[in-house]
Amino acid sequence: MESATPVIVAIDGPAGTGKSSTSKAVAAQLGLSYLDTGAQYRAITWWMVNNGIDIDDPSAIAAAAGKPEIVSGTDPEGPTITVDGVDVAGPIRTQEVSSKVSAVSAVPEVRARITELQRSIAASAEHGIVVEGRDIGTTVLPDADLKIFLTASAEARAARRSGELKGADVQSTREALIKRDAADSSRKTSPLAKADDAVEVDTTELTLAQVIECVVTLVEEKRAGK
Ligand code: DC
Repeated sequence: MESATPVIVAIDGPAGTGKSSTSKAVAAQLGLSYLDTGAQYRAITWWMVNNGIDIDDPSAIAAAAGKPEIVSGTDPEGPTITVDGVDVAGPIRTQEVSSKVSAVSAVPEVRARITELQRSIAASAEHGIVVEGRDIGTTVLPDADLKIFLTASAEARAARRSGELKGADVQSTREALIKRDAADSSRKTSPLAKADDAVEVDTTELTLAQVIECVVTLVEEKRAGK
């Protein structure tokens, strides 16, 4: 039987570990909301690029961080993301945004703004929420009921990501992923990191269905008070 108490699940890890597919499926199966925090950082990056902000100038990024209005729809069956009312679900997945998002998301003013947004979305999720990102268990929601840290080998992550990008070259995808992870892990403010109390799941040898089953079981055990 499901408990009525909202459950907060934080899922962190580098790119290509199956975070988004897992988080959406777990939320859908358990009747929870879903928040893709990477999409929010991509959305603010898209706005910076479109408004001519110099991505190499952290003070210009900081000065503009409060300007765009970013709204996330949290239905796991059809998550949405808009910036100033414009649907940016497609444009935030371009190579250009992917190559610039680490620089934008390293700026403390950007993180403060987006973190506040994330906390208010999580607090208002009636039945609970699955929030995926890089710093959810460590910084955004340190009191989450369950924290998962997904990992996978660089080879597995590159193969999955290039499959998603419909035949993109595995070698260059691997290099881009490693570069982005290094930037995300080494930034000063709230880097990609496993929380001490997170459960680490290595997905290298697992199918998506197995990862989903594993996380659903962990949530159900939490809810049952085990
Ligand atoms: O999950 P993703 O690959 O779409 O995330 C894009 C980028 O956003 C990622 O390279 C780093 C940043 N990000 C972050 O800094 N903190 C988060 N909680 C989520 C993403």
